[in-house]
Amino acid sequence: MKFIHLTDTHIIAGAGDLYGTNPKIRLQQAVAHICAHQADADAVALTGDLTHLGHEDAYRLVRECLAPLPMPVYPILGNHDCRRVFREHFQQIPTDAHGFIQYTQNFGDYLAIFLDTNKPGVHWGDFCELRAQWLRAQLAATNRPVLLFMHHPFFPVAIGSMDTLSLRDTAPFLRAIAGYQDQIKHIFFGHIHRPIFGSISGMPFSTLRGTNHQVALMLGDDAAADIIASHEPPQYAVVLLEGPRIVIHLEDFSDPSQRFALT
Ligand SMILES: [Fe+2]
Repeated sequence: MKFIHLTDTHIIAGAGDLYGTNPKIRLQQAVAHICAHQADADAVALTGDLTHLGHEDAYRLVRECLAPLPMPVYPILGNHDCRRVFREHFQQIPTDAHGFIQYTQNFGDYLAIFLDTNKPGVHWGDFCELRAQWLRAQLAATNRPVLLFMHHPFFPVAIGSMDTLSLRDTAPFLRAIAGYQDQIKHIFFGHIHRPIFGSISGMPFSTLRGTNHQVALMLGDDAAADIIASHEPPQYAVVLLEGPRIVIHLEDFSDPSQRFALT
């Protein structure tokens, strides 16, 4: 099993730029690169902020940009998304009984669980009791290894301006996964627009750059600081699942440098 992790595409309606780069062209570049170099991937996981403002025309553009991909795409919501408009444009994506964009997929031997941390009108993450009950039920119903996909991290990553926008009330989420940490083999995030790897309570995690704009590495705990952005190169990740082994490669798909043999 091989899948692509793509995140924070921030598509806007129309053909314009966002923060000096064009999110539509960037997503088209990513898709073309995946088609050219990773067409044998079994799936693409898109961890939120598909659009920048949640507009109807932006979701239409997202669908158009993703259409050339030969493999299924599994999206979740980010803080910039709109659940109502998303549902109109991604009707094939299941929801839970309460209308949250939460669902599971078989990723090889793993159960991939996609979570909804969107709260309309705010940029920080929310995971309420209803969503947590659904997650706990999924975990209780399987003895397979689990991969979690969620837009917001539920712990600080030491960039204060972003940490204030992570999952705010973590208690329902932490109660939902209590006792299942050993079964959760990896957690894939979006939101931070930076490559970050580590583990939390024994659970490995990763996130990566978005396709349009990035967040600069400005470590500190000042929650009131501005979010400092950058134009570091965009990425997608190639994730290889082979038995108990999870290998994650980052691809800077716009890197123009020449390849050469180390002879
Ligand atoms: Fe984002």
